[in-house]
Formats: sequence, C-alpha cells, structure tokens
Amino acid sequence: MEFTYYGHSCFSVEINGKNILFDPFIKNNELAKNIDIQSIKADYILISHGHFDHIADALDIANNTGATIVSNFEIAEWYTKQGAKSTHMMNHGGKWTFDFGTVKFVNAIHSSALPDGSFGGNPGGFVIESSEGNFYYAGDTALHMDMKLIPMTSKALDFAVLPIGDNFTMGIEDSVIAAEFCSAKKVIGVHYDTFGYIKIDKQKALQSYTEKGIELILLEIGASINI
Ligand code: NI
Ligand code: MN
Repeated sequence: MEFTYYGHSCFSVEINGKNILFDPFIKNNELAKNIDIQSIKADYILISHGHFDHIADALDIANNTGATIVSNFEIAEWYTKQGAKSTHMMNHGGKWTFDFGTVKFVNAIHSSALPDGSFGGNPGGFVIESSEGNFYYAGDTALHMDMKLIPMTSKALDFAVLPIGDNFTMGIEDSVIAAEFCSAKKVIGVHYDTFGYIKIDKQKALQSYTEKGIELILLEIGASINI
C-alpha cells in the first residue's frame, strides 16, 4: 500500500489500484499550503466525523474526482443534500466490502457536529482490510477500551493511524496505549502541530513509542511511503 500524508488528519492510501482519501482538510491548513487539491486522486473519501478540520475539502475533491463519500448515516445524508453525487452510509459496527477491500466503521469517543450546526451523527474510525494489507484509522478520539476489540474482530494490523496532538484527542502517552490495545507495531501519527493547542514535541513522541517497542512514523506533509 502507498500511504501519502496531506497534513493534519488527511491522508490517502492506494490499495489495489484505488485511492482512498481520509478526512480532507487542506486548503484551510496553513501547513499544507503546497498541496494542490486539484492534484489529489480519490475513488473514495472516508470521513470519520463532521468537524470542519476533517471535511473541509471533501465536496470539492468528490466533485473533481467523482469519488464516493463514505461516512456515518448523518454525514453521508448531509453530503447528498450538499450535492454529492455518490455517497455510502454506514454506522457503527457495520462493514462493507468495496472493490479495494472491506471497511468497518468502529467506535470513537469525540463529537461530530457539522459546520452548519447539523447533527453529524456519532464520530467513528475505520478498520480497512484488503489483499494488500490491513490498518486502523482511529479518527479523532480519546483512548478507549473498544480498541481492544479490533485485534479480536479483524485481521492483524499492518499499521494504525492515530491522533497524537492532545487537547482535542488522545495525546502521546494515551496513543501509545491505543497502539498496544489494537496490537499495532507501526503507528502513523496525525492530528498534531496544525494549530496552537496541538503542537507536540516530536522527539518526545518518538521516544515514548521506542520505549514500548512500537515504531512511530511522523511524515512530512506531501510525503509518500510504501507500507
Ligand atoms: Ni474533531
Ligand atoms: Mn479534529
């Protein structure tokens, strides 16, 4: 799988020739000013919850690419009203097999109002299983015990994508425990440094993970890796 980081919690994973984009927030992210959203390929856009910093560019990219927006019932329905041509609604605990692999919508502890005040359902995360590999994207969340269900109910993870910026989500220490709960040996950190409340000490973060024998990967915005 090729993983590309677009800043904040936005990333794309290419699986079986399809591009899966998560939580697009680029134009309003000062740190991502070198990313041109016109250049982003997407067959699917997966949205964890309704907050602006996870959805801001979703409709533009869906319109540019024809991508299907995948999210909880309320967010998918909201996007249909906004004019999105293709949506797929899910809810917690459910999974669906797409042409690239299987997506399961799992619990997160957070909130989910949409920018216009509409109810954004309950926030979630995604577990992706495919012939090229498996991973968990936690979305915005606190550390919670349901993460322990992931290794019980899904194939072994190749990596997890976890928020590490604190204040609005887990911080570094809790995210290390989250990695242990979901049995991930590799973690890609997201949701840090974008604004004042979530600036982190990267060296400290890397060290906290190393001490537990888990690899933390912090990517430059725009960078791609094979994972
Ligand atoms: Ni949020
Ligand atoms: Mn957020």
